[in-house]
Amino acid sequence: TEGMVQVTEREVAIERLATVINECRKCPLWENTHHAVPGDGSSRADLMLIGEAPGKQEDLTGKPFVGRAGKLLEGLLSGIGLSRTDVFIANIVKHRPPGNRDPRDEEIRACTPYLEEQIRIIAPKVIVMLGRHSSRYILSLLSVEFDRITDIRGKVYEGTLFGHPVRLIPTLHPAAALYNPGYREALEEDFQAVGRELARVLGSARE
Ligand code: URA
Repeated sequence: TEGMVQVTEREVAIERLATVINECRKCPLWENTHHAVPGDGSSRADLMLIGEAPGKQEDLTGKPFVGRAGKLLEGLLSGIGLSRTDVFIANIVKHRPPGNRDPRDEEIRACTPYLEEQIRIIAPKVIVMLGRHSSRYILSLLSVEFDRITDIRGKVYEGTLFGHPVRLIPTLHPAAALYNPGYREALEEDFQAVGRELARVLGSARE
């Protein structure tokens, strides 16, 4: 069917882009890494999760969120009936910054065309931004600014990204919740909002 052809094309486009990302030399971050981490999951996902940058385990495996923060993230997903293969998980920056330092503006600028292409190809209905860097970047595309992630987490922003209507939900970074039960509760609460939004958009407009 036409639908099947479309799915295959998306998959091929995502794979082709991953090959380009694996060979990217647009900023110097690649020099100290083992692997790029382009992103992982279903190219048909209704839900896309966007983190900050690969950490040590991600650099070693080439997969996003496979370390301790990733385990926590899997728990949050399972709380709304999803597994990592149902969603697409990506990061703002595709190579690990040395010692997990924050990505620099010029690194974000060099790398985000890849993320934007991933959003264009997958056209998710809901995007969850994990942490303040991811939230800042994605909300800037809607000209939304904020001071503290704790002020806006769990809110649903409606907008259009690259021609597709999308709901954007900023939340805390799962790594921040590893040692902070309060943050963990906040994340669980925000993921309940994610589940509700997904039910809403899929209930009204299933493709
Ligand atoms: N933290 C992130 O932001 N991204 C990953 O892929 C892993 C940890």
